[in-house]
Amino acid sequence: MAFYKNVSNISVYLLNSPFGNLICLRLRIIMRYCSQDMMRTREVQERNVSAYFPKGKVVFFATGNFHKFDEARRVLAEFKIATAMLRVKTIEIQDDSIENIAKTSAIDALRKTGLPLIVEDAGLFIEALNGFPGPYSSYVYRTLGTRGILKLMDKESQREAYFLSVVAFSSPKRLRPICFQGKVEGTITHKERGKKGFGFDPIFEPLGANEKTFAEMEAEQKNEYSHRAQALRKFASWYSK
Ligand code: IMP
Repeated sequence: MAFYKNVSNISVYLLNSPFGNLICLRLRIIMRYCSQDMMRTREVQERNVSAYFPKGKVVFFATGNFHKFDEARRVLAEFKIATAMLRVKTIEIQDDSIENIAKTSAIDALRKTGLPLIVEDAGLFIEALNGFPGPYSSYVYRTLGTRGILKLMDKESQREAYFLSVVAFSSPKRLRPICFQGKVEGTITHKERGKKGFGFDPIFEPLGANEKTFAEMEAEQKNEYSHRAQALRKFASWYSK
């Protein structure tokens, strides 16, 4: 990785082999190039990045959420795509569109690392609440949590909801991100059920899953239904071509 200049720390770890094994390589790669070098050696960098991380074989997942990474690495392994969790702080704008949020983060992550990467953004849309919390899911989860949502839904008999996910891919050869969407329909439960997963998993029951919430499923089973797995499969089949 000689083509990276050592300026700041970005942790890359948990490299997933194309065969689905989790090789716990805790790589602490120090990278980021200063803009002058970037202008001078851009072509070289593009060539090097493609050589080290060929399209269709390797992609970095910029996220701080291990659950998301764990779900993603399993889906990408179905396509023999190796992935590593890239911990890099990216801009997360407030916007009505999940796609815009994902795109902005992908552009920012690419600017900071120069690596071929995906960013994923998701939201829970509850029909009886006119789509709330939607793109504000992260903030609402931190402030109201699952219990707060259950309170808002207390007397509500219409409990339909869906999760939407957008995966944005960006690389030195594709500065403008390309996006892939996934959606799963389901209902909001009356109480929390299950301990697995994260976020709103204990209160979301996907359609056709024998009334199990996401939090009552192993990651493999969640991946049969989830918004994220669907978006990632679309990305992976495009990326592998
Ligand atoms: P993010 O901005 O993509 O991290 O997602 C926004 C919020 O939606 C997160 O804080 C989670 O609470 C929730 N969320 C996203 N994806 C899922 C999921 O697969 N299950 C449960 N909650 C999720």
